[in-house]
Amino acid sequence: MFDNLHRWLIIRLALVWLVLSLIIGCMVQYLGNTRLDSHIVNMAKSETANYSGEFATYLQSPSASNLALFNKRIHRLIENDHLIVVEFYDATSNKITEVIKPSALQVEAELPKHGSDFSNKDTIFTQKVSLNNDTYLRVFIPIFTQADAKIGYMEGIYHAPAEIIHQIKQQTFWSLLLVVLVVLVTSLALYPLIIRLNSKLLDYSHILALTNVGMLKVLGSAIAKRDSDTNIHNYRVTLYSVRIGEKMGLSNTAMQGLIKGAFLHDVGKIAITDSILLKAGKLTAEEFEIMKTHVRHGEEIIGGYAWLVDATEVVRCHHEKFDGTGYPDAAAGAAIPLNARIFAIADVFDALTSRRPYKEPFSLEVSLDIIRQSRGTHFDPMVTDLFLEQIKALHGEICHENEALLHKKLEECIGTYFK
Ligand SMILES: [Fe+2]
Repeated sequence: MFDNLHRWLIIRLALVWLVLSLIIGCMVQYLGNTRLDSHIVNMAKSETANYSGEFATYLQSPSASNLALFNKRIHRLIENDHLIVVEFYDATSNKITEVIKPSALQVEAELPKHGSDFSNKDTIFTQKVSLNNDTYLRVFIPIFTQADAKIGYMEGIYHAPAEIIHQIKQQTFWSLLLVVLVVLVTSLALYPLIIRLNSKLLDYSHILALTNVGMLKVLGSAIAKRDSDTNIHNYRVTLYSVRIGEKMGLSNTAMQGLIKGAFLHDVGKIAITDSILLKAGKLTAEEFEIMKTHVRHGEEIIGGYAWLVDATEVVRCHHEKFDGTGYPDAAAGAAIPLNARIFAIADVFDALTSRRPYKEPFSLEVSLDIIRQSRGTHFDPMVTDLFLEQIKALHGEICHENEALLHKKLEECIGTYFK
């Protein structure tokens, strides 16, 4: 269980780490790309502002001499800028002039031509283009007079500086790495915390289990005090039942139900009047019918508490008989819960070998003869055979021990099956 918990927790924390890293990593990558694009656009707009300013000046007084002067200026500008092509148009889309950076003639020829007509646009427009692992930006800038009349426009191709792109991509990479590490460290920090909390929870569960077991003993003792002076019958029948259950390989859960049921099997006798419960002589038929109701009273008493629900099988069915002649349901064979079939033989054997107000204890041999005769009628044959196989060891261990030692043995059983 402990190892399973560690493996379960490690797998889930690793999954959380992977999923969170993936989601946050994608967000960081997206924001990094957006930041890169925004940076390139801003740089391109900044550099093209010089050209559009020169062109606006020219358009205010166009002449051959001013065009020559304008050409000279943009040739000088383009040598030192990241623009590789600039084209200038008047308001009717007639090209006024263009300049291509000499070192970028090959690139300009390879770049795909834009399929859109930008001439009708009234705002700055950009379009990203990639070629040979380099990033380019087409830029369209309309030129207006102070009275907002469109008098021309320029188009340019901006070559984004590789070192800037590399720098921003590096920053994005380090951000991604930081995110992955932070999520990893958080997951690692959660691991001991969850283990510690689970340990605390187990401690509290153990305390709760002990509380429930304590309540079980109190309830069992309460009915024992009405029926006799000691708990010893309850201790013996519970220990006989546990030993048979162990021989049959019952699950831990089934053993818990068997122990609870065995200890509380006659709890319903609380509802039986003393004149019947403590009667020294034989019960009349009418009194016996009343006595039989103790199994239903017992079921009602424990039925309201979820922790005792698994004891119901024994409490309700411990007087059923394998051949269907028992009570309260006259159930037969496998219709009787296994825990009740196990307990029935333990209960009868203890009654046979014990002193009662109306009889002396039978010898082991006589008691076993009665048990054998009831194989297949009162008792499940399979359970009877298992019981008879180990009866000498059980008799020696349990039958003649004092109450204190039996209580100690019962505590050991509870420690084993309720831990
Ligand atoms: Fe009973």
